[in-house]
Amino acid sequence: MNADAGQEAGAAATPLIEFRDVGKNYGNIIAIEGVSFKLRAGGCTCCLLGDNGAGKSTLIKILAGVHKPTHGEVFFEGRPIDFDSPREALDLGIATVYQDLALVPLMSITRNFFMGRETEFVRRRWGLPYFDTKAAGEMCRTSMAEVGIDIRDPNQAVGTMSGGERQCLAIARAIHFGARVLILDEPTAALGVKQSANVLRLVAQARARGIGVILITHNVHHAYPVGDAFTLLNRGHSLGYFEKAEISREKVLELMAGGSEIADLDHEISEFSRRDDLGGTAAAAT
Ligand SMILES: Nc1ncnc2c1ncn2[C@@H]1O[C@H](COP(=O)(O)OP(=O)(O)O)[C@@H](O)[C@H]1O
Ligand SMILES: [Mg+2]
Repeated sequence: MNADAGQEAGAAATPLIEFRDVGKNYGNIIAIEGVSFKLRAGGCTCCLLGDNGAGKSTLIKILAGVHKPTHGEVFFEGRPIDFDSPREALDLGIATVYQDLALVPLMSITRNFFMGRETEFVRRRWGLPYFDTKAAGEMCRTSMAEVGIDIRDPNQAVGTMSGGERQCLAIARAIHFGARVLILDEPTAALGVKQSANVLRLVAQARARGIGVILITHNVHHAYPVGDAFTLLNRGHSLGYFEKAEISREKVLELMAGGSEIADLDHEISEFSRRDDLGGTAAAAT
């Protein structure tokens, strides 16, 4: 009994994903340096926050098998990983929804949903293979409905969907194909308030299904409600890894805004207005 409990605690303690002191250079550009963070097992959302160019995309591309780290190690369920291609990451259940979504606008929702995984719906008629659009469309509609998205016509071109719907399609697809880790690169960056809320709802659903989510954003108000942990990046360096209990929304905002930079800006602006005042006084004197 005790041994079991011990084993369970041990298993729970092994994170699903762990980055240890990871760095990546592109030639002599240091994109990230010494970044460490964890994604707990059993449904957890870790938010990667940082400004443009902070190194967020670079970090997740290492996990997605696109880049190899220059130094440091990445672990999946306690085992070090060294992917030679994105396919290897996908085979382990690490699914990435990139900023550009990798959808084909002129193709139907169904074709996009099953892209690269058509075999399930390839049938033969008189010996010739064809894609069973009807069955695939039904499956696509059902799995989109499971995550709360109603599609009118699965044959409709993806180009006719809104940005939020496309983002949801890409996420629903990853969930359908059994993702264990779902990486979302700025899914709400180009969306309005309502559409962002829909995407964040999907993030919460994925987490509730036991999926580990890595959510990249530079919007603290999107990250804080859904996040269990936060890693902040600033110009390739980590400002720390925080569990939600350890950090308030205000503190995350303050770290994101770079307290000292804002203070510098304040100082500069007051310098300008002081000079304006002096100019005004000098002009009045002459
Ligand atoms: N393929 C690449 N080759 C050279 N430099 C790159 C490449 N990808 C990203 N960078 C540089 O690395 C830094 C971090 O980029 P990125 O990870 O895309 O940041 P973020 O996603 O946080 O905006 C930037 O300075 C960027 O110009
Ligand atoms: Mg990016």
